[in-house]
Amino acid sequence: MCGIVGVIGRQDATPLLFGALRRLEYRGYDSAGIATLVNGHIERRRAEGKLDNLGHVLDRSPLPGLTGIGHTRWATHGAPTEGNAHPHGTERVSVVHNGIIENHAELRAELEAEGQLFSTETDTETVAQMVDLNLKRGMKPTEAAHACLQRLSGAYALAMIFAGHPELMIGARHGAPLAVGFGEGEMFLGSDSLALAPMTRRIAYLRDGEWAVLSRDDARFFDAQGRETSCEISISALPGGAIGKDGYRHFMEKELHEHPLVIGQTLQRMIDPATRRVVMPDLPFDLAAIPRITMTACGSAFYAGLIGRYWLEAEARIPVDGDVASELRYREPPLAKDGLALLISQSGETADTLAALRSLRQAGQHVMSVLNVSESTMARESDVVLDTVAGPEICVASTKAFTAQLSVLACLAIAFGRARGSMNESREEELVQALLDLPGRAAELFALQPAIQQAAAMVADARDVLYLGRGSQFPVALEGALKLKEISYIHAEAYAAGEMKHGPIALIDRNVPIVASVPSGRLFEKTASNLQEARARGGRLLCFTDQAGASRLGPLAEQVIALPDVHDFVAPILHSIAVQMLAYEVALLKGTDVDQPRNLAKSVTVE
Ligand code: F6R
Repeated sequence: MCGIVGVIGRQDATPLLFGALRRLEYRGYDSAGIATLVNGHIERRRAEGKLDNLGHVLDRSPLPGLTGIGHTRWATHGAPTEGNAHPHGTERVSVVHNGIIENHAELRAELEAEGQLFSTETDTETVAQMVDLNLKRGMKPTEAAHACLQRLSGAYALAMIFAGHPELMIGARHGAPLAVGFGEGEMFLGSDSLALAPMTRRIAYLRDGEWAVLSRDDARFFDAQGRETSCEISISALPGGAIGKDGYRHFMEKELHEHPLVIGQTLQRMIDPATRRVVMPDLPFDLAAIPRITMTACGSAFYAGLIGRYWLEAEARIPVDGDVASELRYREPPLAKDGLALLISQSGETADTLAALRSLRQAGQHVMSVLNVSESTMARESDVVLDTVAGPEICVASTKAFTAQLSVLACLAIAFGRARGSMNESREEELVQALLDLPGRAAELFALQPAIQQAAAMVADARDVLYLGRGSQFPVALEGALKLKEISYIHAEAYAAGEMKHGPIALIDRNVPIVASVPSGRLFEKTASNLQEARARGGRLLCFTDQAGASRLGPLAEQVIALPDVHDFVAPILHSIAVQMLAYEVALLKGTDVDQPRNLAKSVTVE
């Protein structure tokens, strides 16, 4: 899973490729590399680690040339070393790849038997070696590439350049996205339109199984059998400028501070200011006729979906089944006829979620996606897209996209409630008002930063942390634990507070801090009893609550943080921000790489 880019043009390719890699770093940052054609010969520079390391290599040893390819890697096969960094190739061909070639072992054995000499452990090198062998056998580059593509199984997006052919680049797509960018006398390839945005807005996406042959002025598209196809050029709306930290220490800090704005913008899209009613885009199906929802997503997006499930079931009285996408697909759950598949994804490219989308569609479900990237693969494959207006999220750990997803899901629950007749007008007004109040309350939350900073000290030295919540606060606990694990590398587990006594209570001692999300409301007393049980066993409690809850929890907890008072319905949105802020403060104390934590990538495009 990686980011790939290619340029065939009229200006130095390396700065363009490097800039595009910067915009693709969200796909992986284990190593990076660039290859260009210099006087017809392939030359490359590669470096282990972050893209900056490649920048230093290029400073010491510049790479000229008008045609080139680049790669930023999240290792699948082979350790993240310079030797395994892309581009891979021979003196004849150079290849960058995103995905996994599943039959690489078999192909490698075959190619080695033919005398091809491999120099890396990667699956990608099989592609380069096979094209190389085809070229040695006298095939033209396009024939050599096409013959190779027909032998590959797995998921891939590929870009290739060829020695002696400065006006040629080949791209191919099978299961991993690839965009062709049309410039003036220059052409581009990229994993997404964001990478190409500073260079061109005119984008055509390859369809699955297609490959493209690019020259300096144009691109021709072919299907798997080699028949020429047409392409559809669209104009990307993505910003081409560099995205900065605007004075914040990390993108995560900046993105945390964008919560109020993002919630406001997302609600503006879904609530008519004149009528103060939730508005849905045109739907190709009737909400009232949907018998059941199957919700699926990965990681934080799945936790957003779990909160959405509480809302949909309670407010709209519609049954919602849900599972993480990597499991749902293989569970083969019986699905209701004409049911709704509800997918949630920031990137719209997550391979597990995309695969689940396709299998749910194949099973006859209507497909609705809650997405932050409106030009993503999932957007193109959904019947309806509900946009989260969070803007580009750069920090690998999701923050503002999460609350934007919650804002959309809250509106969806209201829309379903109205359509199904389970919510009367006054309840809708009450919930809409609660949502409209939220950006203001979220802004007030930042006044609590010193208290959260202080509370972080309670967590930073722990080896294990337990997160607790009940009802719609249980997924908030899951989100808090995930965020802590991701960016501070502290082990954390989340439990439904009432479930603690069935096992995890055995873990509790003074060394395991407990973070509880416990707003006053229907489940306050029950959660407080669970916290008493923990306290009685020496547990040290950090409680996020509200004004009314603070006085009740004061005697029990070592730290109590009272969040601004909000309606119970929207409390999980505010509490999510608080647990994300806590994780950030802990990571600062631990001194970790907040924006790009180890082993992770922002968009996980392998299953
Ligand atoms: C956690 C996080 C991940 C993503 C997950 C899904 O902070 O960012 O768990 O939520 O990888 O990604 P998307 O939403 O792009 O499908």
